[in-house]
Amino acid sequence: MKNKIVLGHKSIDHHHDEVFELDQKLDLAISENDPQYLESIIDFLSHYVKDHFQEEETLMAKENFDRLSIHQNEHAYFKRRFNEINQLHKQKCHTTHIVFQIRSFLDTLIQHIIEEDALMAHLINEENNE
Ligand SMILES: [Fe+2]
Ligand SMILES: [Fe+2]
Repeated sequence: MKNKIVLGHKSIDHHHDEVFELDQKLDLAISENDPQYLESIIDFLSHYVKDHFQEEETLMAKENFDRLSIHQNEHAYFKRRFNEINQLHKQKCHTTHIVFQIRSFLDTLIQHIIEEDALMAHLINEENNE
């Protein structure tokens, strides 16, 4: 796991940890050449771009975070990118190509976690930490 960051929020941190581990899962998807690995990565990301982003945005809105709209724009970008990748996957595009796309998606997403998500740490308190 690389660049692990801790915001102090149980479920948000847990989701981030899973993202940091996806890099290794991608390596496994390539070396094992088993479509199930890729399937599980895409499945995880499809929940992540909905539920995880929603959880962050709800917390930010509740705490009147001044970067909410900047943050929402970045989330919207990741949703679009994920939909493109998901389309390629549905069209049975070559695994190597999809893995390459996911790798670059993850690099940008990890950057987002480190640079943007990190800025919301001060919003987290006992009341909103589940
Ligand atoms: Fe996040
Ligand atoms: Fe975020």
